Amino acid sequence: VPEPPDILSPQFAADPYPAYRVLREHYPVVFHEGTASWLLSRYDDVERAFRDPVFTTDNYDWQLEPVHGGRTIVQMSGREHAVHRALVAPAFRGRELREKFLPVIERNARELIDRFRDARRADLVDEFATRFPVNVIVDMLGLDRTEHDRFHAWYAAVVGFFANLSQDPEVAEAGMRASRELAAYLLPVIHRRRDEPGTDLLSSLCTAEIDGTVMTDQDITSFVSLLLSAGGETTDKAIAGMFRNLLAHPDQLEAVRADRSLVPAAFAESLRFTPPLQMIMRQTAEDVPLDGGTIPAGATVTCLIGAANRDGTHYARPDTFDIHRADLTTANAFSAAADHLAFALGRHFCVGALLAKTEVEVGANQLLDAFTEMDFADGTPAADAGVFVRGPLRLDLSLTPAAG
Ligand code: HEM
Repeated sequence: VPEPPDILSPQFAADPYPAYRVLREHYPVVFHEGTASWLLSRYDDVERAFRDPVFTTDNYDWQLEPVHGGRTIVQMSGREHAVHRALVAPAFRGRELREKFLPVIERNARELIDRFRDARRADLVDEFATRFPVNVIVDMLGLDRTEHDRFHAWYAAVVGFFANLSQDPEVAEAGMRASRELAAYLLPVIHRRRDEPGTDLLSSLCTAEIDGTVMTDQDITSFVSLLLSAGGETTDKAIAGMFRNLLAHPDQLEAVRADRSLVPAAFAESLRFTPPLQMIMRQTAEDVPLDGGTIPAGATVTCLIGAANRDGTHYARPDTFDIHRADLTTANAFSAAADHLAFALGRHFCVGALLAKTEVEVGANQLLDAFTEMDFADGTPAADAGVFVRGPLRLDLSLTPAAG
């Protein structure tokens, strides 16, 4: 029997999937010293951790509060979570999203692609994937779109805070400083929107009310900070990961190019195969007996999404990237539901899942229209990096621009 893998080791960072297999097969419920948490790797256990309220979100506090400047829905539970999620959720639902924000998404994709439309080479991450979701959120909020670069710098510093896991004090301080600057920038805007609300998302957040509960200024600044980081980096990795996966399987790329109704399936399969958020944490409210061991009450649990998404008891040929899998996605314009755990499940199911899906679909279609051929510039697939959030840091492509 192999040793239990260390999810903080360099080998794991280079390629976590062999370690996930060892965990699923030999150590489905195991304590990991480095993260002081219990690892869950099987599909059924991770699914249960997302759905069963005995797994709470209380332990997020230490990690998220400093950089978002306050509590957000990710770490709330019970009624508090339900009310606060209901205050923000309407803008991210199908009809409202498509009617109000689809043009915003299309415009931002077009503007970014225009900057390298004639290029024969480009880094798709730097030119597109990392900027597109941040620009979209800024515009949805109705903030100053001439300041996209400034928001991107704030976003990069906040995201750096997470990647750093508080090890380098300078990086940690830069993240918290960015968050304070963002809040200071937002406060006067919030006050103006409270007086004169418009049709933008920030105005909706300022005016939303449920049973007498409204969002305070601090609730709003923390939520915007959450939106930029939770919605930015994940979508960046989702776009870059999907193109990398398709380019590594040219027959599937050509199938998508020829039949664009396959884009949602390519997105769903890419999220299954290489989920941007590889792991998320929960805490046990009481002892939880599972098939493989009992997790004691009050323990931290790391739910390994990347492992669950490749569980051979749930998927045929789990290590094969195949956009033609049966029943992978409903391909419904108003839903992001698909058979994978990349958006979690249950009450904390990603509130921005449909926005992410819409962004990736619009972005992918426009990129495929703009470039009739794409390939890895140096001939080899770009590698993923990162342990908690994982995806290509660069995607250097050789491109053939479409005529005209
Ligand atoms: C929650 C993944 C895009 C906003 C989550 C969770 C996951 C996730 C796994 C659950 C966290 C937990 O239960 O602890 C992703 C992935 C994305 C993506 C893979 C891209 C492909 C977005 C976007 C937004 C967003 C575009 C908004 C702009 C949120 C928020 C939550 C959340 C606010 C908290 C929901 C709650 O706690 O009720 N996301 N996300 N995400 N996501 Fe996303």
